[in-house]
Amino acid sequence: MVDRRAAGLPLEYVLGWAGFCGLRIAMDPGVFIPRRRTEFLVRQAAALARETASPAHQAASPADQAAALARPPAVVVDLCCGSGAVGAALLAALDRVELYAVDIDPAAVRCARRNVAAAGGQVYEGDLYRPLPASLRGRVDILAVNAPYVPTEEVGLLPPEARVHEPRVALDGGADGLDVVRRVIEAAPQWLAAGASLLVETSERQAPQTAETVARYGLVPRVASSDELNAFVVIGERPARPRGPG
Ligand SMILES: C[S@@+](CC[C@H](N)C(=O)[O-])C[C@H]1O[C@@H](n2cnc3c(N)ncnc32)[C@H](O)[C@@H]1O
Repeated sequence: MVDRRAAGLPLEYVLGWAGFCGLRIAMDPGVFIPRRRTEFLVRQAAALARETASPAHQAASPADQAAALARPPAVVVDLCCGSGAVGAALLAALDRVELYAVDIDPAAVRCARRNVAAAGGQVYEGDLYRPLPASLRGRVDILAVNAPYVPTEEVGLLPPEARVHEPRVALDGGADGLDVVRRVIEAAPQWLAAGASLLVETSERQAPQTAETVARYGLVPRVASSDELNAFVVIGERPARPRGPG
C-alpha cells in the first residue's frame, strides 16, 4: 500500500474508501474522490430538506409526530453523483428521504450503487436528468449537484492525484467550466416542486455567473459560502408561484 501511494496513487484508491461527512464512502479507482468542501453542499441540502419535511422524532407532540409521519418523505436527487457520497451523506443525515442518484460514467454508477443502494437509494446511469423516472417531474424537493466545473484550460493545473487519476468527465466543465452546470440549471425548473431548491457547488469566481443563470431560468438565487471549507454553493429556489415581470 505504501508503494502504491508513493507511486502517486491517491490515498483513497489505495485504501478503498474516502472519509466524507463522518462516513466511509467505498471508492473504486477512476471514480471522483469526494472533497471536504462538498460537505458544505450536503449541510445546506440537509438543512433545506429538513425545512421541507420535519422529521417525526423532532415533533413536539404525538399529534405533530403523526402529522410528520403522514407527510411524504423528501424527494432528493444527487445529480452527477460520482461515488454517491452526497446522496449517501443525505440518506444518513435525514430521517425520511426518497433518494435518486445519476451519473454518466458506468464506473461511478457501480461505485455509487455500493454506497447508496444499500441505504435505500436508487442509482441511474445516463446524461443528467435523462435516466430519471418521468414521475419525478415537478416532485423533487432537493436537487443537489456537484457537477464538473473546472475550466478546460485549468484541468492541467490540478494536482496529479486529480489530473492523472480522476476521469476527465468528472473534472472538465468546458471553456468557462459551466457547460454541464448550465444544462443542469436550464432543466431544473421542470423537476423541482414548488418551493423546492436546486443546490450547485461552484467556485468563488464562478458563483456570480452561476447565480445569474439560476435567475435566468426563473429560480430565486442566493450564494451560501463557508470560509472554513472554502466552499461555495449557489442555491436556486423554485418560487411557490411563477414570478411575474418586475
Ligand atoms: C466533480 S465530480 C462529483 C462527484 C460527486 N458529486 C462528488 O461530489 O463526489 C462530477 C461527476 O459528474 C459526472 N458527470 C459529468 N457529466 C455528466 C452528465 N452529463 N450527466 C451525468 N453525470 C455527469 C462525472 O462522471 C462525475 O462523476
